Amino acid sequence: MQDAGLDVRALRHALGHYTTGVTIVTTCTAAGGHTGVTVNSFTSVSLEPPLVLFCLSTRSSLLAAFEQASHFAVNVLSTGQQALSNRFAKPSVNTWEGVKYRCGAHGCALLADAITAFECARRSIYPGGDHVILVGEVLRFETVAAPAPLAFYQGSYGTFTRDQSGVKPAPDGSLADFVSYWG
Ligand SMILES: Cc1cc2nc3c(=O)[nH]c(=O)nc-3n(C[C@H](O)[C@H](O)[C@H](O)COP(=O)(O)O)c2cc1C
Repeated sequence: MQDAGLDVRALRHALGHYTTGVTIVTTCTAAGGHTGVTVNSFTSVSLEPPLVLFCLSTRSSLLAAFEQASHFAVNVLSTGQQALSNRFAKPSVNTWEGVKYRCGAHGCALLADAITAFECARRSIYPGGDHVILVGEVLRFETVAAPAPLAFYQGSYGTFTRDQSGVKPAPDGSLADFVSYWG
């Protein structure tokens, strides 16, 4: 066991073993434009009320935009959208040239070919060390019959392959409840 406080690089490497999806979280700027950032810290928080969160670096050039905006949209990327992920992982992406999107009900950009989009009202911002934790209430969402999701593991993109063994992830009652809860 390693003391988590000692080696930031080793900690980052260890955290990278947790496989995630990839999202682009978009919002509207005060000037009336669109902005967005690639995020894999997205997670669900609560179903009733429907809450989600993501973490944004306090060094992000988009922090002020997300702090000011009343809404944000989380676009869950599908496999094949790696270039889009890289594009929105660059500082200050303010050109949307060539990016296919439409505006959601609350003005945020909903990206074409994303598997799912969650339109959220920002509810809370909590401090989280060198990140802030933004919590949003899901107001609207949509899913499309997409191919596979884009996944991120150890600094590389990949995708998800369904287990064909037939083993169900429900060895006991509490976990079964959890699995049916989250579908
Ligand atoms: C796959 C992936 C996941 C990322 N997840 C996050 C995240 O959850 N939070 C965050 O602040 N930055 C995350 N980043 C980094 C930001 O996308 C990147 O630092 C940001 O776009 C830089 O521009 P900015 O300074 O304008 O924010 C991620 C990058 C990649 C490639």
